[in-house]
Amino acid sequence: MVEVGQRPIIAGCYDHIIMNIVVLTGAGISAESGIKTFRDTGGLWENARIEDVATPEAFERNPAMVYEFYNARRQQLFDSNVFPNEAHYALARLAKISAVNLTLVTQNVDNLHERAGSEHIIHMHGELLSVKCAETDEPFVWHSELTHTDVCTCCKPAKPMRPDIVWFGEMPMYMDEIYRALANADLFCAIGTSGAVYPAAGFVDIAHQYGVETVLVNLDELDNGRFNQQILGKASEQVPKWINRVVDDYKLE
Ligand code: OAD
Repeated sequence: MVEVGQRPIIAGCYDHIIMNIVVLTGAGISAESGIKTFRDTGGLWENARIEDVATPEAFERNPAMVYEFYNARRQQLFDSNVFPNEAHYALARLAKISAVNLTLVTQNVDNLHERAGSEHIIHMHGELLSVKCAETDEPFVWHSELTHTDVCTCCKPAKPMRPDIVWFGEMPMYMDEIYRALANADLFCAIGTSGAVYPAAGFVDIAHQYGVETVLVNLDELDNGRFNQQILGKASEQVPKWINRVVDDYKLE
Protein backbone atom coordinates (compact mmCIF):
# COMPACT_ATOMS: atom_id res chain seq x y z
CA MET A 1 0.00 0.00 0.00
CA VAL A 2 1.37 3.43 -0.93
CA GLU A 3 0.59 6.52 1.12
CA VAL A 4 -0.49 9.79 -0.51
CA GLY A 5 -1.33 12.76 1.66
CA GLN A 6 -3.25 11.53 4.70
CA ARG A 7 -4.94 8.68 2.87
CA PRO A 8 -3.79 5.39 1.47
CA ILE A 9 -3.90 5.29 -2.30
CA ILE A 10 -6.06 2.54 -3.65
CA ALA A 11 -3.83 0.09 -5.41
CA GLY A 12 -5.09 -2.65 -7.69
CA CYS A 13 -1.56 -4.05 -7.71
CA TYR A 14 1.78 -2.42 -7.05
CA ASP A 15 2.55 -1.46 -10.62
CA HIS A 16 -0.91 0.08 -11.18
CA ILE A 17 -1.64 2.72 -8.58
CA ILE A 18 -4.80 4.79 -8.89
CA MET A 19 -5.29 8.15 -7.20
CA ASN A 20 -8.92 9.12 -6.65
CA ILE A 21 -9.34 12.87 -7.12
CA VAL A 22 -12.62 14.75 -6.71
CA VAL A 23 -12.76 18.23 -8.23
CA LEU A 24 -15.66 20.62 -7.64
CA THR A 25 -15.83 23.58 -9.98
CA GLY A 26 -17.84 26.79 -9.60
CA ALA A 27 -18.53 29.90 -11.61
CA GLY A 28 -14.97 31.22 -11.07
CA ILE A 29 -13.51 28.64 -13.47
CA SER A 30 -15.64 30.03 -16.29
CA ALA A 31 -15.17 33.72 -15.43
CA GLU A 32 -12.16 34.11 -17.73
CA SER A 33 -14.17 32.40 -20.48
CA GLY A 34 -16.60 35.32 -20.49
CA ILE A 35 -19.33 33.90 -18.29
CA LYS A 36 -20.32 36.00 -15.29
CA THR A 37 -20.08 34.61 -11.79
CA PHE A 38 -23.01 35.03 -9.40
CA ARG A 39 -21.65 36.88 -6.39
CA ASP A 40 -18.63 38.86 -7.61
CA THR A 41 -19.05 42.56 -8.39
CA GLY A 42 -21.20 42.78 -11.52
CA GLY A 43 -22.28 39.15 -11.01
CA LEU A 44 -25.58 37.66 -12.13
CA TRP A 45 -27.29 38.08 -8.76
CA GLU A 46 -26.69 41.84 -8.88
CA ASN A 47 -29.06 42.24 -11.83
CA ALA A 48 -31.54 39.48 -11.14
CA ARG A 49 -33.11 38.40 -7.87
CA ILE A 50 -32.89 34.71 -7.02
CA GLU A 51 -36.52 34.74 -5.91
CA ASP A 52 -37.60 36.13 -9.30
CA VAL A 53 -35.76 33.71 -11.59
CA ALA A 54 -34.30 30.74 -9.72
CA THR A 55 -37.04 29.15 -7.63
CA PRO A 56 -39.98 26.87 -8.49
CA GLU A 57 -42.29 29.59 -7.12
CA ALA A 58 -40.83 32.15 -9.53
CA PHE A 59 -41.56 29.78 -12.43
CA GLU A 60 -45.14 29.34 -11.28
CA ARG A 61 -45.64 33.07 -10.79
CA ASN A 62 -43.91 34.43 -13.88
CA PRO A 63 -42.62 31.71 -16.23
CA ALA A 64 -41.87 34.26 -18.97
CA MET A 65 -39.33 36.00 -16.78
CA VAL A 66 -37.65 32.70 -15.88
CA TYR A 67 -37.57 31.55 -19.52
CA GLU A 68 -36.03 34.88 -20.50
CA PHE A 69 -33.29 34.67 -17.85
CA TYR A 70 -32.17 31.18 -18.89
CA ASN A 71 -32.68 31.81 -22.64
CA ALA A 72 -30.18 34.67 -22.40
CA ARG A 73 -27.71 32.49 -20.56
CA ARG A 74 -28.13 29.58 -22.99
CA GLN A 75 -27.66 31.95 -25.92
CA GLN A 76 -24.38 33.18 -24.42
CA LEU A 77 -22.86 29.71 -24.80
CA PHE A 78 -23.01 30.21 -28.57
CA ASP A 79 -21.18 33.56 -28.41
CA SER A 80 -17.91 33.29 -30.32
CA ASN A 81 -16.12 35.05 -27.44
CA VAL A 82 -17.07 32.32 -24.99
CA PHE A 83 -14.71 29.35 -25.01
CA PRO A 84 -12.94 27.10 -22.48
CA ASN A 85 -9.80 28.39 -20.77
CA GLU A 86 -6.60 26.68 -19.62
CA ALA A 87 -8.22 25.55 -16.37
CA HIS A 88 -10.91 23.57 -18.23
CA TYR A 89 -8.28 22.05 -20.54
CA ALA A 90 -5.96 21.12 -17.66
CA LEU A 91 -8.78 19.20 -15.93
CA ALA A 92 -9.55 17.35 -19.16
CA ARG A 93 -5.85 16.36 -19.38
CA LEU A 94 -5.81 15.28 -15.74
CA ALA A 95 -8.62 12.81 -16.39
CA LYS A 96 -6.63 11.18 -19.18
CA ILE A 97 -3.72 10.21 -16.89
CA SER A 98 -4.10 6.49 -16.34
CA ALA A 99 -3.07 6.67 -12.66
CA VAL A 100 -5.89 9.15 -11.98
CA ASN A 101 -9.54 8.42 -11.33
CA LEU A 102 -11.08 11.89 -11.57
CA THR A 103 -14.61 12.67 -10.49
CA LEU A 104 -15.40 16.07 -11.96
CA VAL A 105 -18.37 17.69 -10.25
CA THR A 106 -19.51 21.10 -11.43
CA GLN A 107 -22.01 23.59 -10.09
CA ASN A 108 -21.82 25.27 -13.48
CA VAL A 109 -24.60 24.96 -16.01
CA ASP A 110 -22.40 25.93 -18.97
CA ASN A 111 -20.80 23.43 -21.37
CA LEU A 112 -17.18 24.54 -21.10
CA HIS A 113 -15.86 21.37 -19.44
CA GLU A 114 -17.40 19.34 -22.27
CA ARG A 115 -15.95 21.68 -24.89
CA ALA A 116 -12.49 21.29 -23.32
CA GLY A 117 -12.76 17.51 -23.73
CA SER A 118 -13.85 16.37 -20.27
CA GLU A 119 -16.21 13.41 -20.08
CA HIS A 120 -18.60 12.08 -17.42
CA ILE A 121 -19.10 15.51 -15.87
CA ILE A 122 -21.45 15.59 -12.93
CA HIS A 123 -23.61 18.69 -13.44
CA MET A 124 -25.09 18.84 -9.96
CA HIS A 125 -27.02 22.08 -10.67
CA GLY A 126 -28.25 21.06 -14.12
CA GLU A 127 -27.37 22.21 -17.64
CA LEU A 128 -28.36 25.10 -19.88
CA LEU A 129 -28.34 22.90 -22.97
CA SER A 130 -31.00 20.67 -21.52
CA VAL A 131 -34.63 21.36 -20.67
CA LYS A 132 -37.07 19.05 -18.97
CA CYS A 133 -40.73 18.22 -18.84
CA ALA A 134 -42.21 20.16 -15.94
CA GLU A 135 -44.35 17.14 -15.10
CA THR A 136 -42.03 14.11 -15.39
CA ASP A 137 -38.52 15.65 -15.37
CA GLU A 138 -37.76 13.86 -18.68
CA PRO A 139 -34.77 15.78 -20.14
CA PHE A 140 -34.45 17.00 -23.74
CA VAL A 141 -31.33 18.41 -25.42
CA TRP A 142 -32.10 22.06 -26.17
CA HIS A 143 -30.03 24.67 -28.00
CA SER A 144 -32.59 27.37 -28.80
CA GLU A 145 -35.05 29.59 -26.96
CA LEU A 146 -37.53 27.91 -24.66
CA THR A 147 -41.02 29.39 -24.34
CA HIS A 148 -44.37 28.34 -22.91
CA THR A 149 -45.38 27.07 -26.36
CA ASP A 150 -42.70 24.36 -26.28
CA VAL A 151 -44.08 21.11 -24.96
CA CYS A 152 -42.70 17.70 -24.10
CA THR A 153 -43.03 14.50 -26.08
CA CYS A 154 -43.21 12.28 -23.02
CA CYS A 155 -46.76 13.13 -21.85
CA LYS A 156 -50.18 12.82 -23.47
CA PRO A 157 -51.41 15.51 -23.59
CA ALA A 158 -47.98 17.17 -23.92
CA LYS A 159 -46.92 19.32 -21.00
CA PRO A 160 -44.90 22.55 -20.73
CA MET A 161 -41.17 22.36 -20.24
CA ARG A 162 -38.79 24.20 -17.93
CA PRO A 163 -35.05 24.84 -17.80
CA ASP A 164 -33.12 21.76 -16.58
CA ILE A 165 -31.65 23.78 -13.73
CA VAL A 166 -31.69 23.01 -10.04
CA TRP A 167 -33.43 25.97 -8.47
CA PHE A 168 -33.20 27.15 -4.89
CA GLY A 169 -35.35 24.89 -2.76
CA GLU A 170 -34.70 21.87 -5.02
CA MET A 171 -32.30 19.00 -4.41
CA PRO A 172 -29.10 19.01 -6.51
CA MET A 173 -28.59 15.99 -8.73
CA TYR A 174 -26.32 12.93 -8.42
CA MET A 175 -25.74 13.41 -4.69
CA ASP A 176 -25.29 9.68 -3.96
CA GLU A 177 -22.63 9.44 -6.64
CA ILE A 178 -20.85 12.54 -5.30
CA TYR A 179 -20.86 11.35 -1.68
CA ARG A 180 -19.51 7.95 -2.79
CA ALA A 181 -16.68 9.66 -4.67
CA LEU A 182 -15.84 11.84 -1.64
CA ALA A 183 -15.76 8.79 0.62
CA ASN A 184 -13.22 7.14 -1.69
CA ALA A 185 -11.16 10.23 -2.49
CA ASP A 186 -7.45 10.72 -1.89
CA LEU A 187 -7.62 14.41 -2.77
CA PHE A 188 -10.41 17.00 -3.02
CA CYS A 189 -10.05 20.30 -4.84
CA ALA A 190 -12.62 23.09 -5.14
CA ILE A 191 -12.05 25.62 -7.92
CA GLY A 192 -13.64 29.05 -8.36
CA THR A 193 -16.45 28.83 -5.87
CA SER A 194 -17.49 31.15 -3.05
CA GLY A 195 -18.75 28.31 -0.86
CA ALA A 196 -22.06 30.12 -0.39
CA VAL A 197 -24.41 27.41 -1.60
CA TYR A 198 -24.98 24.06 0.08
CA PRO A 199 -24.67 21.12 -0.30
CA ALA A 200 -21.64 21.84 -2.52
CA ALA A 201 -20.18 24.19 0.09
CA GLY A 202 -20.15 21.29 2.56
CA PHE A 203 -18.13 18.88 0.40
CA VAL A 204 -14.90 20.13 1.99
CA ASP A 205 -16.20 19.15 5.44
CA ILE A 206 -17.27 15.73 4.22
CA ALA A 207 -13.86 15.24 2.66
CA HIS A 208 -12.26 16.11 6.02
CA GLN A 209 -14.43 13.58 7.80
CA TYR A 210 -12.91 10.94 5.54
CA GLY A 211 -9.39 12.28 6.14
CA VAL A 212 -9.07 13.54 2.59
CA GLU A 213 -6.56 16.30 1.81
CA THR A 214 -8.39 19.44 0.60
CA VAL A 215 -7.30 22.30 -1.66
CA LEU A 216 -9.06 25.45 -2.84
CA VAL A 217 -8.03 27.31 -6.00
CA ASN A 218 -9.85 30.64 -6.01
CA LEU A 219 -9.40 34.30 -6.83
CA ASP A 220 -10.49 35.41 -3.37
CA GLU A 221 -9.46 33.91 -0.10
CA LEU A 222 -12.28 32.16 1.76
CA ASP A 223 -11.85 32.92 5.41
CA ASN A 224 -13.47 29.71 6.58
CA GLY A 225 -10.19 27.92 7.29
CA ARG A 226 -11.72 24.66 6.14
CA PHE A 227 -9.26 23.83 3.37
CA ASN A 228 -5.80 22.39 4.10
CA GLN A 229 -4.43 24.64 1.39
CA GLN A 230 -5.69 27.72 -0.47
CA ILE A 231 -4.09 28.69 -3.78
CA LEU A 232 -5.08 32.22 -4.67
CA GLY A 233 -5.16 33.51 -8.24
CA LYS A 234 -6.85 33.12 -11.59
CA ALA A 235 -8.07 29.64 -12.37
CA SER A 236 -6.54 29.70 -15.88
CA GLU A 237 -3.08 30.18 -14.32
CA GLN A 238 -3.31 28.35 -11.01
CA VAL A 239 -5.22 25.20 -12.00
CA PRO A 240 -2.67 23.99 -14.60
CA LYS A 241 0.16 24.72 -12.12
CA TRP A 242 -1.61 22.88 -9.31
CA ILE A 243 -2.25 19.89 -11.58
CA ASN A 244 1.40 19.80 -12.67
CA ARG A 245 2.45 19.80 -9.01
CA VAL A 246 0.08 16.94 -8.14
CA VAL A 247 1.31 14.91 -11.10
CA ASP A 248 4.96 15.51 -10.08
CA ASP A 249 4.50 15.08 -6.32
CA TYR A 250 2.64 11.81 -6.61
CA LYS A 251 4.53 10.64 -9.70
CA LEU A 252 1.30 10.08 -11.61
CA GLU A 253 1.60 8.81 -15.14
P1 OAD B 1 -20.01 32.55 -6.95
O1 OAD B 1 -20.33 33.65 -7.89
O2 OAD B 1 -20.75 32.50 -5.67
O3 OAD B 1 -18.46 32.57 -6.60
C1 OAD B 1 -17.50 32.66 -7.60
C2 OAD B 1 -16.13 32.50 -6.97
O4 OAD B 1 -15.20 32.45 -8.04
C3 OAD B 1 -15.70 33.66 -6.05
O5 OAD B 1 -15.26 33.15 -4.81
C4 OAD B 1 -14.53 34.31 -6.81
O6 OAD B 1 -13.46 34.68 -5.94
C5 OAD B 1 -14.06 33.20 -7.70
N1 OAD B 1 -13.48 33.66 -8.98
C6 OAD B 1 -13.88 34.69 -9.77
N2 OAD B 1 -13.09 34.78 -10.86
C7 OAD B 1 -12.18 33.79 -10.76
C8 OAD B 1 -11.08 33.35 -11.56
N3 OAD B 1 -10.78 33.94 -12.72
N4 OAD B 1 -10.35 32.30 -11.13
C9 OAD B 1 -10.64 31.68 -9.95
N5 OAD B 1 -11.66 32.04 -9.15
C10 OAD B 1 -12.42 33.08 -9.55
O7 OAD B 1 -20.20 31.18 -7.78
P2 OAD B 1 -20.42 29.71 -7.25
O8 OAD B 1 -19.71 29.46 -5.97
O9 OAD B 1 -20.16 28.79 -8.36
O10 OAD B 1 -26.50 27.92 -8.24
O11 OAD B 1 -21.98 29.74 -6.96
C11 OAD B 1 -22.61 28.57 -6.49
C12 OAD B 1 -24.03 28.51 -6.96
O12 OAD B 1 -24.70 29.73 -6.62
C13 OAD B 1 -24.20 28.43 -8.47
O13 OAD B 1 -24.04 27.13 -8.98
C14 OAD B 1 -25.58 28.94 -8.67
C15 OAD B 1 -25.56 30.12 -7.74
O14 OAD B 1 -26.74 30.56 -7.23
C16 OAD B 1 -27.72 27.85 -8.76
O15 OAD B 1 -28.15 28.66 -9.57
C17 OAD B 1 -28.52 26.69 -8.23
